[in-house]
Amino acid sequence: MNNNYVKIFDTTLRDGEQSPGATLTSAEKLEIARALAKLGVDVIEAGFPAASPDDLQAVQQIAKEIGNSKSGSAPIICGLARANKGDIDAAWEGVQNAENPRIHTFLATSPIHMKYKLKMDPEEVVEKVKEMVAYAKEYCDDIEFSPEDAGRSDHDFLYLVLGEAIKAGATTLNIPDTVGYTTPEEFGALIEGIMANTPGIENVVVSVHCHDDLGLATANALAGIQAGARQAEVTMNGIGERAGNTSLEEVVMAIRTRRQIYELETGIDTTLLTRTSRMVSNYTGIVIQPNKAIVGANAFAHEAGIHQDGMLKNQNTYEIMEPAMVGLSNSKLVLGKHSGRHAFKAHLEEMGYELSDEDLNISFKRFKDVADRKKVITDIDLEALIADQISQPLEFYSLDGLQVSCGTMGLPTATVRLCGPDGDIHVQAAVGTGPVDATFSAIDQIVDAPNTLLEFSVNAITEGIDAMGEVSVRLEAENGSIPKRKSPQNNFFQTRTFGGHGIDPDIIVACAKSYLSALNKLLLASGKYEDPKTISVKVG
Ligand code: KIV
Ligand code: ZN
Repeated sequence: MNNNYVKIFDTTLRDGEQSPGATLTSAEKLEIARALAKLGVDVIEAGFPAASPDDLQAVQQIAKEIGNSKSGSAPIICGLARANKGDIDAAWEGVQNAENPRIHTFLATSPIHMKYKLKMDPEEVVEKVKEMVAYAKEYCDDIEFSPEDAGRSDHDFLYLVLGEAIKAGATTLNIPDTVGYTTPEEFGALIEGIMANTPGIENVVVSVHCHDDLGLATANALAGIQAGARQAEVTMNGIGERAGNTSLEEVVMAIRTRRQIYELETGIDTTLLTRTSRMVSNYTGIVIQPNKAIVGANAFAHEAGIHQDGMLKNQNTYEIMEPAMVGLSNSKLVLGKHSGRHAFKAHLEEMGYELSDEDLNISFKRFKDVADRKKVITDIDLEALIADQISQPLEFYSLDGLQVSCGTMGLPTATVRLCGPDGDIHVQAAVGTGPVDATFSAIDQIVDAPNTLLEFSVNAITEGIDAMGEVSVRLEAENGSIPKRKSPQNNFFQTRTFGGHGIDPDIIVACAKSYLSALNKLLLASGKYEDPKTISVKVG
């Protein structure tokens, strides 16, 4: 293996999905995995199969469909397991049908975790690691071991545990700063110490896994890489537990933009970063902050007059990366209302989307509907339309019509017409404090899914008065009827929250669509209805 190559291990579907509100359906996980494979990640951590039967099934599907390729270049598909036989069995059940399966098992090594969480002596921890790594090795060759909370562990103890893990068959040693506590100097020194003092380290890959509690995750990961780590565990948009994980796009673009310093490379096609980032944001309902490095809406915007002047004279005055490098197109007019189905299909293919005939018909109808109302249709609009179509695979209830009256005279009133699970039509009117409140109230009177709205955000996808509106909502089921899921790091059950996303040139229609998409996910999780269909749109 080229020693200048840094493997990108993406854990969006595992650590990322653990973040509050990021609950994804199996169809969404599959599409994200497909996009990650296309992006060029080396490893996809597809989930924590012991968490629930749904999680297991999603990992199995990804292993089968994304973890196999005719060209033999499928990414490694990894399943997470605590250091116990049940979890390791489930992880293997999840990944075994991938061309390149990996089991990732972990056990905490910091004094505080061993004493209070595990209630184990250090000697017992060493024994458990030996036993469980060896157990996983009986299933597959590719074994990753993580000493959880390595950032707060005793260094000599870590060298010992890691040395034993290597002897028992681990092929990757991942070093997590689980609570985001270390500084770049400390974390770099930790990796340096591991490289110098762990017996057998030269035969395995060392990996970094940093959390962002102090905003240092990317800096720490890069310090670890400079000290010799050759795998970075990251998530798209940096989503993850609490303040999140190291963000994929930041590590990859730092390595690329500052290649004279790092002298390293990754296998990522950076031109797909923007698209993949938007997909993850749309599906998870986790909105990207505008000033987020690389993928935020303002990351390449130049407002200040003095900056604009410099940019006009020479782009490099204020721009260290070209927008095209990360896949930001110039938002050109690409199609209009007179464009035919053939031109539409050809353009989508050029953008890398392969759609089945059925899905093409749906997306073409949606395109025509938008083109009738919006003069300029750009690549960004098309991407949003397709992403939205992919993220609405299940529609127990869909929006069939909406009329709203609002303003300063009279009560804001909404009348909604929904198509229900059996094709039945429901019409309901409601008043509210504003048009959105009235619309959501009318929907609530039809759909029996009591919930609390946690987050609501509205964005314009492109510039201009006729820009399409993009709405994200996040809600929590009210009556505890949703089966909960265990977190891998502790025995607590996680509260399930559901994200929804909707786009439309009419902002209130986008609100209704996003609310319905979250409610549909909640209904699916409640077990009231079965998943009516799986999607067949492929991001090529
Ligand atoms: O942060 C952490 O310690 C983890 C481990 C499971 C690797 O996510
Ligand atoms: Zn983590």
